[in-house]
Amino acid sequence: MSTAEGRETPAEALARLYDLDLQDDPGDLEMWTALAAEADGPVLELMAGSGRVAVPLAAEDRPVTAVDIDAAMLARARRRAEAAGPDVAGRLELVLGDVVGLELGGAPGAGGRGPARRFGLGLVALNSILLLPSRAAQRAAWAALAAHLVPGGIAAVDTWLPDAHDLARYDGRLHLEYHRPDPETGRWVTKTAAAQHDAATQTVALTTIYEEGDPGEPASRWVRRDVVRLVTADELRAMAEGAGLTVELVAGGYDLEPLGPHDDRAIVVARMPGSGPAG
Ligand SMILES: C[S@@+](CC[C@H](N)C(=O)[O-])C[C@H]1O[C@@H](n2cnc3c(N)ncnc32)[C@H](O)[C@@H]1O
Repeated sequence: MSTAEGRETPAEALARLYDLDLQDDPGDLEMWTALAAEADGPVLELMAGSGRVAVPLAAEDRPVTAVDIDAAMLARARRRAEAAGPDVAGRLELVLGDVVGLELGGAPGAGGRGPARRFGLGLVALNSILLLPSRAAQRAAWAALAAHLVPGGIAAVDTWLPDAHDLARYDGRLHLEYHRPDPETGRWVTKTAAAQHDAATQTVALTTIYEEGDPGEPASRWVRRDVVRLVTADELRAMAEGAGLTVELVAGGYDLEPLGPHDDRAIVVARMPGSGPAG
């Protein structure tokens, strides 16, 4: 929601700038499309943000429920779906909420009443699980996926695995990430960031500064602070198993080849025991 003067709020600006960051395509969409086809049922995306993954999945003729805690991100997801057409927008359900303790009950629009809804595929894309504030919260995200899967349904979580070389660079120094125009505003955006790794807590504190404006103009500045709570592939696997899922694959990239030495991400694909139709 914009301010009374119609100005963008900080949350709206940061959501817009998230999409500017994601002009660098992570290349994961084909993988999510393939997993959704294999699961063959409605899709639940947790921490879905601005609909980067949820909207293309809804465009493939599947009902998609996208959960996020940030209303400004969900507003962008809604606009993205509407731009893809009324059918796509009609298949995308947006839920504002915390994934920790998530309970989706009843049919879409039933006000959350009724037994837990079940999905064929539940996913957390692109390192999002690392933004949860504790190991317990990360485990709760897996529990939320498991609680909403049909028997035989698939849960998949994608995270980054930084190596020692990456972590050594996270020494708190500010560096330039990009200088690029935002197609939405026409203004140039300079993004700088500083990352600080803390080995004791296995976290990376990220400070990101966006400055926008044309040369010679006063710039608008937006700052965001994130703490990334790193996980190993083994920890991620244990979280899936702790949620009652059977791990079928730990992949090292979006081609879903098994994790190998020097891979910089882990995608854990797990299944809810049993078999049955999604609905
Ligand atoms: C890095 S963005 C990723 C968005 C999306 N998964 C993608 O791949 O483009 C992480 C998202 O997680 C959301 N988020 C953070 N903590 C959350 C929580 N506890 N419950 C639900 N969403 C959360 C943020 O609002 C943000 O939109």
